[in-house]
Amino acid sequence: MGVYLRWLYMEINCLHFDSINSTNTWSKENYKSFDPSKITMVTADQQTSGHGRYNRPWLSPAKQNIYATFTFFLPQNRKDLGNIAQITALSIVKTIKECGLFPLIKWPNDILIDRKKISGILCEVMQEANHSIVFVGIGLNVNMPPEILQKINQPAASLLSETGKEFDVQDVLHLLKNYFAKHLKLFIQNGFFPFLNDYRNHVIHQKGDLISAQMQKGLFQRIDDDGTLIIEMDGKMQKINAGEIDIQ
Ligand code: BTN
Repeated sequence: MGVYLRWLYMEINCLHFDSINSTNTWSKENYKSFDPSKITMVTADQQTSGHGRYNRPWLSPAKQNIYATFTFFLPQNRKDLGNIAQITALSIVKTIKECGLFPLIKWPNDILIDRKKISGILCEVMQEANHSIVFVGIGLNVNMPPEILQKINQPAASLLSETGKEFDVQDVLHLLKNYFAKHLKLFIQNGFFPFLNDYRNHVIHQKGDLISAQMQKGLFQRIDDDGTLIIEMDGKMQKINAGEIDIQ
């Protein structure tokens, strides 16, 4: 356990690349050289094979956006690793709010503005004998102009498209890094519970909203205490704890 206690200092080692295939892929290939008592943040100006959940491409042109992967080591017996993407979503929400916008979360961890996706999270976990290694990849569209956003095959936004202003990518990354480290520290010590209200207050879903999950339609009821989604399907309450949903 000793190695994890040093987390209280929240140190972050930073590695930056001009160009990389994917910050997640690179981190997964190189984590053995990372200090297990610290968070390692790998960033890049551009990614040549940026990807999201279900291996969908993540458009990653140079110097417009944040492409970052946070890697850290946790004891293997934690049962709540699934909440890490949700606490990360809240870090992104807080970062975007500081830029003057009001983002919402589509369960579990897509960040939307005005129902358009501005940020996504790819959370991957590797298990080793004594610990889990967690890779949290974040794509946040900062200065991507509308003509490039249109090339994405779903409604997409950037801080620029929503405010009409350019942002310094490094300033936004600095905010994100601090919120992420703060949230992770609290999560390691106290789990998901301290985030529950904040998470519930930032989801886009309202009671009775139509949701498609696991090829079925249902009505949103609530976010349960463990962060899972409760929807009513054919009169029965269903607990959804993974995957992706569609909203109307
Ligand atoms: C999603 O919404 O499906 C997740 C998108 C995650 C994209 C980020 S960009 C940085 C990191 N590197 C990747 O290849 N993917 C993640």
